[in-house]
Amino acid sequence: MKIARFSRIGFILAAAGSAVGLGNIWKFPYIAGEYGGGAFVLIYLLTVLLIGFSIMIAEMLIGYLGRRDTVTSFEELAPKHKPFWKLGGFQGLAGLFIMIFYSVVIGWIFNYIVTSLYFLPSSVKEAETIFTSMLHTDIMTQLIYHTLAFVLITYVLTKGIKGGIEKLNLFLMPTLMIILIGMFIYALTLDTFSQAVSFMFSADWSKIDSEAFVVAVGHAFFTLSLGMGAIMTYAASLEKDSNIVKSAFWVVFLDTTIAIVAGLMLFTFLYQYGSGPAKGPGLVFISLPAAFYEMGILGNIFAVLFFIALAFAGLTSSVSLVEPMVQYFIDRFNWNRLKASVAMGLFFYLFGIVALLSNIEGISAYLTWNEKNFFDWVDYITAAIMLPLGGLIMAVFVGFIIEKSRVEAVMRPQLKWAFEPWYFSLRYITPVAMLIVMLNLMGVVS
Ligand code: PHE
Repeated sequence: MKIARFSRIGFILAAAGSAVGLGNIWKFPYIAGEYGGGAFVLIYLLTVLLIGFSIMIAEMLIGYLGRRDTVTSFEELAPKHKPFWKLGGFQGLAGLFIMIFYSVVIGWIFNYIVTSLYFLPSSVKEAETIFTSMLHTDIMTQLIYHTLAFVLITYVLTKGIKGGIEKLNLFLMPTLMIILIGMFIYALTLDTFSQAVSFMFSADWSKIDSEAFVVAVGHAFFTLSLGMGAIMTYAASLEKDSNIVKSAFWVVFLDTTIAIVAGLMLFTFLYQYGSGPAKGPGLVFISLPAAFYEMGILGNIFAVLFFIALAFAGLTSSVSLVEPMVQYFIDRFNWNRLKASVAMGLFFYLFGIVALLSNIEGISAYLTWNEKNFFDWVDYITAAIMLPLGGLIMAVFVGFIIEKSRVEAVMRPQLKWAFEPWYFSLRYITPVAMLIVMLNLMGVVS
């Protein structure tokens, strides 16, 4: 089975494209708002630094050594108990599950690109009415744009690693960065910038309970695309002798920087033109458009550019969420790329419709359990449970299962003195941290 290889920059942009997603620009600001800013942001940053970075390297290493789809890579790298370890590869399913709501959100973004061209709501109240009526009553609009997202994503996947995924990222990622940097520079000139800084970085620990903790750690995994084999699948197409540590560094650096830049920019706008940090998934769809309105014509331009950047971020992540399972069916079942891409696409498309319907008035009640509807459940189970669990599997797999000599042969020359601390962290720090997260999750520790 032959796979086209990424170019060096292609790999970094694709992996960064996977990491930089709705998680950075849509989710991070609103959960930071929800859990009170500073302290929450700090837990997230510490997790990224202490755990995320080392798992990023571990995941890249599994892909790099395995060179195959996630399931086969796990199977081949495990010296014994292959059928058991092969299960680790099925973490790729988490990506398909994430896509169920991810694609619906990308649909909302498409809708906002189009409407922001000629219209912005004049108050938060109006913005809220518009957003909630789309969310709770407008099946048609959501369905049309969700379908568009499905078609675009599936199309890129049918073109493969080189002709589809790499090309997409080479164009979209730099464009996205230029848009965000441009808007960030504008935010820097506003007086409320310092308020945004203090909201994001001054820690109020009283706001942190066990739920906030789990969400912050879960988000660190989500935003770095860890724990489900996306990064691993891309790394399987790395050229031999690539520097894993450098690539991992760039991905973590870009992802974190973009989250912080986006957060500071959004909060500055919200302080300056709006009503301050808002809570909930509506932040960029409700408070932000109303703030853009206050900027006049510049606001329309900013709104369109902002939603385009958000759509780009979402699309480059989407292809990485689906690719692991596409590779799996190509590698293990000899499906051709077209068939595998369309089948996986249809999976998230159809369940995505269920997610979309679970927000619709009158239908929602049938798709809600324990106060969370289907849409929210998928989000919660994937980000808070499946990804940290996946991270644990990857850490244990590299730390204990693959022979140390194999790991060392590749990693010691790259990590040098940092090899032992990295290895130690995979063996002991990450598993313990993940265990604490799981216990918190079950409400045992609070
Ligand atoms: N990292 C992406 C984001 O921040 C989401 C993602 C998760 C992508 C897991 C791939 C794998 O939106």
